[in-house]
Amino acid sequence: MKTVLAYSGGLDTSVCIKWLQEHYKTDVITLTLELGQGEKDLKEIEDKAKKMGAIKTYSLDVREEFVKDYINPAIKANALYENKYPLGTAIARPLIGKYLAEIAMKEGADSVAHGATGKGNDQVRFELTVRAMNPDLKILAPVREWGLTRDDSIKYAKEHSIPIPSGKSPYSVDENLWCRSIEAGVLENPMKEPAEDAFRWTTSPQEAPDKPTYVEIEFEKGIPVGLNGKRVPELELLYKLNEICGKNGVGRIDMIEDRLVGIKSREVYECPAAVALLEAHRELERLTLTREENLFKGILENKWSQMAYFGQWLEPLKEDIDAFMDKSQEVVSGMIRLKLYKGGMIVVGRESPNSLYSLALATYDKKDAFDHKMAEGFLKLWGLPIEMVGRRKMKK
Ligand code: ARG
Repeated sequence: MKTVLAYSGGLDTSVCIKWLQEHYKTDVITLTLELGQGEKDLKEIEDKAKKMGAIKTYSLDVREEFVKDYINPAIKANALYENKYPLGTAIARPLIGKYLAEIAMKEGADSVAHGATGKGNDQVRFELTVRAMNPDLKILAPVREWGLTRDDSIKYAKEHSIPIPSGKSPYSVDENLWCRSIEAGVLENPMKEPAEDAFRWTTSPQEAPDKPTYVEIEFEKGIPVGLNGKRVPELELLYKLNEICGKNGVGRIDMIEDRLVGIKSREVYECPAAVALLEAHRELERLTLTREENLFKGILENKWSQMAYFGQWLEPLKEDIDAFMDKSQEVVSGMIRLKLYKGGMIVVGRESPNSLYSLALATYDKKDAFDHKMAEGFLKLWGLPIEMVGRRKMKK
């Protein structure tokens, strides 16, 4: 038996290596992906896996692919689950699932494994992607199966001489370029404000600079291509924006979220670049898309976000919606100016060669080109149905 395990290098997935060897008598190949997690030494992680007996280790830097095929569709879809969570963890899982399946096929493995628990969303995202890619692969979920508590895992690790990461965080954290997700520990009490030690990418708003920072983001067909007047590769743009917005305390989210398995959970996120880009992008659409497009798009955005959250990345409907999103972005080019100040963020300027805004039509001064008399006839017709309701009421 041969299994490809999604391996982060953390305690749980390290325990998984031994567990798979012991309980399934399977050879383990580990797979670690660089998604912009920050301070992650892939070489060290591979060494660790080898020491625990992995017969082969893979580590791949897939940041470019993550940006192009996962983050960009999320930007086009203004993706926010329950109008709040930018889906950082949710969109990364299908990418990991895809590589799990691909490497399993390449290596002639009969199974893949992940370290997600039985009550989270991540198991759903891994497994639906793998099944869509190769339904014949067996999927093993040791953490779901063993039901060990954190203390049990530490005990198991000690017994099997698995190194226990020092300075372990009191939270469960998942991070990538788009979002840092923080849960568990004291955060399970929904009344408890997260302490500063929960955050890594954002300065506390109180400690943020006393002067506002302006950023200008340039978009082309819905995709960010420039920052503060300079064209920058998108990967670099994301890092820079995370830094600039983070310094100003922008991007913290604290919410109750509905998991697919039916439970509500308290989630804390920090996603400075995502929050800024989504706000800027949406504003550019307000400027360049029609009212009809903007109103209807919102419905599909909701659906897209739900499908991404629920692990339906490869469901054909989601691809259909992506096609709609792509088409809608043809005119979404231009620049948005944001003002960041002590955790707050506001759009203060926008321009586009495809703008539908007309000063002549909007102005209240002498240059007004709007024909006010047209409004009279328009209102007669627009109000006709409700007028009929009024007449019916009068009759009674
Ligand atoms: N609640 C978020 C989601 O389902 C984040 C999950 C974070 N995962 C983790 N292992 N900490 O997308």
